[in-house]
Amino acid sequence: MDPLTVPDESLAALERVAAQAQGYLAELTDAPVRAAGSDEAAERFGGPLPDEGAGTLAAIEELLADGIDAHVRSAGPRFFHWVIGGSTPAALAADWVTSLLDQNAGGWDATPLGARLEQVSVAWLLDLFGLPAHWGGVLTTGATTANFTGLAAARQWWGKQHGVDVSEAGLGGLPQMPVLSSGFIHVSALKALAMLGIGRGRVTDCSRPDGSFDPAALERELKKAGPAVVIANAGEVNAGHFDPIREVAETARAHDAWVHADGAFGLFARLSPRTAALADGVELADSAISDGHKWLNVPYDCGFAFVRDPAYLYRVFAAGAAYLPEAQDDRPVFGFMGPELSRRARSLAVWATLRAYGRDGYRAMVERCLDNAAHLARLVEEADDAELLLPAPLNIVFFRYRPADASEDELDELNLRIEQEILKDGRVYVGTTRWNGVIGFRPAFVNWRSTKQDAELVLETIREIGSKLRASRPPAAQAPRGA
Ligand SMILES: Cc1ncc(COP(=O)(O)O)c(C=O)c1O
Repeated sequence: MDPLTVPDESLAALERVAAQAQGYLAELTDAPVRAAGSDEAAERFGGPLPDEGAGTLAAIEELLADGIDAHVRSAGPRFFHWVIGGSTPAALAADWVTSLLDQNAGGWDATPLGARLEQVSVAWLLDLFGLPAHWGGVLTTGATTANFTGLAAARQWWGKQHGVDVSEAGLGGLPQMPVLSSGFIHVSALKALAMLGIGRGRVTDCSRPDGSFDPAALERELKKAGPAVVIANAGEVNAGHFDPIREVAETARAHDAWVHADGAFGLFARLSPRTAALADGVELADSAISDGHKWLNVPYDCGFAFVRDPAYLYRVFAAGAAYLPEAQDDRPVFGFMGPELSRRARSLAVWATLRAYGRDGYRAMVERCLDNAAHLARLVEEADDAELLLPAPLNIVFFRYRPADASEDELDELNLRIEQEILKDGRVYVGTTRWNGVIGFRPAFVNWRSTKQDAELVLETIREIGSKLRASRPPAAQAPRGA
């Protein structure tokens, strides 16, 4: 069915989606995060590619019917797995506008709207995070591509220190690029190093025993290394801890090193005076990144890469061709500042949410998440059947279910089994991690809708499922009391 040969049902389809959105959003706070039967609903999609096609409305009906059953309410307030935000009302509506207008945000010529809003968004984000206004930046698909973008700029700088333009000549003939970081480095930074031809296995670990950066070890390594790239971590993903970024950056700057700061969610610590000190010193970095689809609560996908000197981005990512525009200072070509040439106009949602709620609104959202995390951490500390495994300085609470009569040996397996049940149960969605050699839950609070009651439900559900699982075990497997 050629859409040109049948009546245009665009508006009817959009109205159908808007009608569905009404009920969907009303239920989002109370409906199960994951409904029973979601796997089967997902599998209902399939079959051969249709020859004829079902038509606009029929396809959208099917998508809504099976799609809603198959999806996970990750935008809702009780989704605490990984680090996933929801969408603020303004961001959600702006994202719909983004699809309506369907702009290619490669550059100003293709969309003055997208390019101007990206300029404004980058400037507002630098301001929001307390980073120098003269830095530049670009919106990316997320923190992984933002890490890639920042580290590509770092690699370009490093090549320059050796007299080589890496974007032109490649890495051949150059020594191994020294990369130094701590045990807090995120896998996405390693992935970026893999994509950049540096190698994910080539990071020199300068950690203290707790995994955080040891500035003294960094100093020793930098003295040997020559020009080097240092990755500092503002917000470690398992428990939300921070490298001592100011000390790391000052040590690096005293030597010949580029500092890249990964603040995928941790950069938001700078929005509240209660936590700003955790991410102090990021302003000394050469590149810093964060995510939009985490704590900014804009829809997938969106991240930000900021650099002190955007010329490095242009060196790496510019793609000159006769049919493409040239960048001018007041008319940036964002397709020349990051990995994608054609790009979604993510700036519409970023601009709209910052315009709608402003600095004060974002501080309130961040502080609500801090309160929720602190509340849960306190409940865990007071409980006689749960154990806080590490302090929770920001928004992640690393803890495990630990009934008084459970033996150490059974705890990892017990907590993993609770996780399996909790993901099926659907009241809250929270996963485990292994960190410091121990399995524990790590609910992450970044969703603007989550409340203290939602945080309480995490512990209540874990406790309920945990005690049921233990009660249903054969008696022989029970540990002796007091073990
Ligand atoms: C510290 C850190 N860096 C980078 C990432 C990668 O982010 P994304 O999934 O948006 O690519 C994450 C994701 O959780 C993260 O926590």
